[in-house]
Amino acid sequence: MEKKFKRHLITAALPYANGSVHIGHLAGVYVPSDIYVRYLRLKGEEVLYICGSDEHGVPITFKAKDLGCSPQEIVDKYHAIIKDSFNRFGISFSIYSRTSSKIHEQTASEFFEKLYKEGKFVEKESEQFYDPVAQVFLADRYIMGTCPKCGNDKAYGDQCEKCGSTLSPDELIEPHSRLSGEKPLKKMTKHWYLPLDQYEGWLKEWILDGHKEWKINVYGQCKSWIDGGLKPRAVTRDLDWGVPVPLEDAKGKVLYVWFDAPIGYISNTKELLPNDWEKWWKSQDTRMIHFIGKDNIVFHCIVFPAMLKAYGDGYILPENVPANEFLNLEGDKISTSRNWAIWLEEYLADFPGQQDVMRYVLCANAPETKDNDFTWKDFQARNNSELVAIYGNFVNRALVLTHKYFGGKVPQYQESDLTPTDKELIASIPQITEKIQSNLDQFKFRDAVKEAMNLARLGNKYLTDTEPWKVFKTDPKRVAVILNLSLQLCANLAIAFEPFCPFSSKKLQAMLNLAPKNDEVCPTSAPNGKVRWENLGRIDFLEADSPINQAELLFSKIEDDVIDAQLQKLANTKKQNEEKEAQEAAKQVAPQKDECTIEDFDKMDIRTATVLAAEAVPKTAKLLRLTIDTGIDQRVIVSGIAEYYKPEDMVGKQICILANLKPRTIRGIESKGMILMAKDQSGRMRFITPQEVMVNGAQIG
Ligand code: MF3
Ligand code: ZN
Repeated sequence: MEKKFKRHLITAALPYANGSVHIGHLAGVYVPSDIYVRYLRLKGEEVLYICGSDEHGVPITFKAKDLGCSPQEIVDKYHAIIKDSFNRFGISFSIYSRTSSKIHEQTASEFFEKLYKEGKFVEKESEQFYDPVAQVFLADRYIMGTCPKCGNDKAYGDQCEKCGSTLSPDELIEPHSRLSGEKPLKKMTKHWYLPLDQYEGWLKEWILDGHKEWKINVYGQCKSWIDGGLKPRAVTRDLDWGVPVPLEDAKGKVLYVWFDAPIGYISNTKELLPNDWEKWWKSQDTRMIHFIGKDNIVFHCIVFPAMLKAYGDGYILPENVPANEFLNLEGDKISTSRNWAIWLEEYLADFPGQQDVMRYVLCANAPETKDNDFTWKDFQARNNSELVAIYGNFVNRALVLTHKYFGGKVPQYQESDLTPTDKELIASIPQITEKIQSNLDQFKFRDAVKEAMNLARLGNKYLTDTEPWKVFKTDPKRVAVILNLSLQLCANLAIAFEPFCPFSSKKLQAMLNLAPKNDEVCPTSAPNGKVRWENLGRIDFLEADSPINQAELLFSKIEDDVIDAQLQKLANTKKQNEEKEAQEAAKQVAPQKDECTIEDFDKMDIRTATVLAAEAVPKTAKLLRLTIDTGIDQRVIVSGIAEYYKPEDMVGKQICILANLKPRTIRGIESKGMILMAKDQSGRMRFITPQEVMVNGAQIG
């Protein structure tokens, strides 16, 4: 039994304002939520769509420190960039605000205070790491040291980014503060904890018994958290950036970012509707849905609901939390630190006016049930063979033919003119539009957009089967039927695609005169004119004789060179990363070998020599055949240095060799001795040469 709600409160995870947003964010959270909201608006539902920047947290303070500015300057910069990118992608928030606002500070403070006064927190003193020079407590991220698992000497107190292990600061070898470099001390500090363990029974009932309809990935994560046993979670931190803890004895403490950020949904609603916000948050008639990525599940399904439950006062809980998995890029995890991402501003600059293409591709390939991969080839294929060749092509043919044969007016027909082919089309349209709707209702956006494309596919096939361009000469009446139905189908497409591809939909709506002229790209108050969900599936809402406008192309072909340029950009990034990693690796040195005696060393005959001739060993990539003058004789040494030196680089160079190494035959060449090379941890090799040229055969020891 579906409960009937009066209004929908849709939230999208507040992105951190310490960097731009990329296609992974768009695919996981903002495209699906925007699709859903646009769908509800088309149905005439009352909807709020809430988002904003998450402006607190330790990483923001780091970025500020690295760049030598204040955290506020960082969030001001990124808030503006993120807000603009979303706006240009048509993400149609009712409000996009921020957690550094006054109203948010008040709301979050008040929330904490009430819970505190009502004894909903547990107060606990514990030992935490403290920087004795900077005189501050250190968040786990502020502590660095050597990873006990892989030896990376730049591991953080919470995680080693090299081997991916989750760590605690206690496990680090030689821990030091990122602020002063000093070894951190342990010092007592007081914090307030939300005792999640006390909410276990309630959460079990509410989620595990009450929301079996949630996506399996979401339900599964909740179940394993709850079954694993919930622990009290600290909701305060020793930090100077955030919402100050509103208590006398809490100097230098702020609310934990995951305590204040979700309250941002409430404060942003308040900011938008100062007098009317409560009906959105405290009425059983409101249906709240959180759109998030999978890394946010525990906070939205367990922590925030427990906070709301503890607060009471009629606050509602989410009806559903359709979290998505992650999007990869060309086979690799999207990573900000490795710049492995497609940033929205970059896309907007490289593909002006093509927001719908990215929206479409991200939806068609959304990581709904598993991680998914974005590739530029798939992007190109979906544009060229779906948006252009199916949707765009059908619309264009229908409109151009109507102008050609009927002077740009919707042609009239009689019921009795319909053939079985037409009737089949008329029957198929509502079948498909119902599928679009039922998929949208179940947050299955990939399947929904696939069905929308099937609607266009149906139109294309209909034109190909009926061939109006051949029939017109002999039977214009027949063509009137074909084009009327085709235009009705175009009108269906203009509605069906609006949630997914709003910019091109608006264009098509204007071509068909479906809605009064409206310059706003993403209306917050659809339905508009005939653009209403209830018209979907009908084949009679474009009136006969009504004029249509000139056909404009909805999409254009993306050529190979454009895609190659993007692939090249990524290849450059990959190369830069590899170089950076090699440089990092080169800084590391191998540990000392086992002890040896002077006698061991004396056995080796090491001496100076000069390369007389050098050539590559045929059919090998690594080997050079060197003829050298050892002072004793002239001989041949085969050496694996071709990756580092060309033959001509070697000729005439004075080098050092191990002369008495037992000869070996390599590729049929007898090699007598070995060239001494220095080799760093990245594998780079350089030969050793005396500081001044000496006679050949000078002994080294
Ligand atoms: N900033 C968080 C992230 O990007 C999401 C915060 S969602 C909120 O992972 F609910 F806390 F606001
Ligand atoms: Zn490690």
